[in-house]
Amino acid sequence: MDLGQFGISAVPLHNSPYGPLLPEHLAGSNKGKVAIVKGAAQGIGKKIAEALANSGANVAIVDLKDGSETKTACESFNVKAACYSCDVTDVERMRTVVEDIEKVLGPIDILVKNAGMNRGRPICMDTFEGYWRCFEVNYKSVMNCIFAVLPGMRERKSGTIISMASRAGTHDCPLALGYTDSKTAIIRATASIQGELEMDGLGETIQMFSLHPGGVPTALGSCKYILTRSYNYPMVNQWPPVPGSEEGLQYQSAGFPADVAQRYPEAEKTMKQFLTYLRTDPGLCAMTCAYLATGRGKQLRGMYLDVRQDIGRVAARGRSALQKAGLYSLKMDFIEDYANEV
Ligand SMILES: NC(=O)c1ccc[n+]([C@@H]2O[C@H](COP(=O)([O-])OP(=O)(O)OC[C@H]3O[C@@H](n4cnc5c(N)ncnc54)[C@H](O)[C@@H]3O)[C@@H](O)[C@H]2O)c1
Repeated sequence: MDLGQFGISAVPLHNSPYGPLLPEHLAGSNKGKVAIVKGAAQGIGKKIAEALANSGANVAIVDLKDGSETKTACESFNVKAACYSCDVTDVERMRTVVEDIEKVLGPIDILVKNAGMNRGRPICMDTFEGYWRCFEVNYKSVMNCIFAVLPGMRERKSGTIISMASRAGTHDCPLALGYTDSKTAIIRATASIQGELEMDGLGETIQMFSLHPGGVPTALGSCKYILTRSYNYPMVNQWPPVPGSEEGLQYQSAGFPADVAQRYPEAEKTMKQFLTYLRTDPGLCAMTCAYLATGRGKQLRGMYLDVRQDIGRVAARGRSALQKAGLYSLKMDFIEDYANEV
């Protein structure tokens, strides 16, 4: 990874919820809706479940790990919550889980596919099975759930589907195969399926988004919280506690296997530096999900959004202007005089 390839925004990015994304502005805005959050036992997914609960949605927590902490946190917002233990790549199990959720909580209005993993291995040091597992956790899990919930949303002409992509899906990422390509697939599939919804006149009512959650210090990001740090919504505006400080966080290169670090020591150094850039509050992505689920971001449907960019500023450009310029979507550029001809 070459950190030099990343630009620096001239407009400061948000790193915690702001304006329309503040919890008090979203409280109750998804009242009575039913949401599934896949990968909600910890990290960003846990905060997404809580943000949806704060917005009044009943939440199904799907994870391989125990989601009971998330369930308790959701219930504190006086909504229903239920946990489902499930490997999100297991198509049959996922179908059963969706059926159970619909029986217990009702038809699904909001799907957030958040579960994800990274291996941090180059292809020459990986197996196909290891690589493919990563691709499936990140991408198959998106599509199996879309196939399970979209028909119902189409019948009811209503729904929001949010899939966690990553900035890694927008550029080439050596040492992250399985991650970078699955995230690209998510961005492309989101836009393509939204296009199909538009063809059926359902674009205004069913909206899909792919998101970059910012650089969030989580287990996946190879960061550990020092547990003395409080991390509740009333605190969000104090994140990070002192801008630029390391307080509250420990960085480690757990996501970078020792044998890979030995073969590519420069890459490990870069990764360590990269980890110190991870300073986005998971609540920012969480509140963005709650906001999008209300339908307030429908101008941006089908697009890839970096949640750190001000959603009002982006939407103010207007849907057709964004589309005409090919912004917030994947594209390939060519030298002058060549076009992407049919
Ligand atoms: N942390 C970041 O900076 C960052 C940046 C870009 C994108 N993302 C994306 O955000 C999402 C959440 O990441 P996070 O940082 O909170 O990671 P995390 O590792 O803290 O959480 C991931 C969750 O997914 C669950 N999960 C993983 N595999 C699963 C499976 N097969 N079945 C069911 N559940 C499974 C885990 O148990 C965990 O609860 C991921 O899709 C990740 O790629 C994160």
